[in-house]
Amino acid sequence: MSETKIPLAGVIGNPISHSRSPLIHGHWLKKYGIKGFYVPMHVEHDDLETVLRSLPKLGFRGINVTIPHKVSVLGIADIVTDRATLIGAANTLTFTAEGKIHADNTDGYGFIASLKQGAPSWDPKSGPALVFGAGGASRAVICSLLDAGVPEIILTNRTRHNADMLKSEFGARVRVVEWVQAGNVVEDAGTIVNTTSLGMSGKTEFRVPLDGLRSDTVVTDIVYEPLETTLLKTAKEAGCVTVDGLGMLLHQAAPGFERWFGKMPEVDDETRRVALS
Ligand code: ATR
Repeated sequence: MSETKIPLAGVIGNPISHSRSPLIHGHWLKKYGIKGFYVPMHVEHDDLETVLRSLPKLGFRGINVTIPHKVSVLGIADIVTDRATLIGAANTLTFTAEGKIHADNTDGYGFIASLKQGAPSWDPKSGPALVFGAGGASRAVICSLLDAGVPEIILTNRTRHNADMLKSEFGARVRVVEWVQAGNVVEDAGTIVNTTSLGMSGKTEFRVPLDGLRSDTVVTDIVYEPLETTLLKTAKEAGCVTVDGLGMLLHQAAPGFERWFGKMPEVDDETRRVALS
């Protein structure tokens, strides 16, 4: 006798206990009355392929992927979306009915959706976007900003070489500026994004001088602990619209939930409260 399968999804990483994804998806499952489960799974690098090939057989519809597996899964997936290829990492896997692994990256989508929700008047075409940082998060942010139509990305990073690498991949609309010169281009930016870990609780403070900041510049940070970073506080004091980093985390989760559980979830204040609990 065949039974109705309970939809399963989850997140793999190492470490994984700190992940907020189970809270977020668990909240949505309850809110929409879906009889499914979302579980955190600790996976070692050497077990990655075996685990990925087994999950569809166990009834998993897909999973989120976090550190340190976001790059490695690209080499295992059967289908990789263009944006995951461009970003060079995947955070959302969906298993097809035949058990094939489809890899996507929703970080850039989450970043833009959060910006649009937090700053409804944000116009990507209003001017260059100044992006701090050239790591994994920066790749997703740059990719989505270019896609959204920003005329230019002014990219700055402590290690110049890493920024130059991104420029060579993303092309002519990216201009690299020395980290120590970044304060001089703040006034040119219509959008400012911090993608570094600077300003995160327990890490080094964000200390780029922001004297030239215009009040019509939209400023956002991917750091969400604390929610109001020094960058965002300074920007608020200068009259800027600011968007905190929690929105990106929540919005990047939504497309996966829709694919696995069949409902596009709403990212509202309650979702924010749950993720912070
Ligand atoms: P993620 O994948 O979250 O983006 P990452 O790939 O480790 O993380 O990237 C971290 C980013 O924060 C990098 O741009 C890093 O700069 P470097 O390329 O010079 O390492 C930046 N970063 C981390 N600590 C920093 C610090 N103390 N000062 C300036 N930039 C820092």
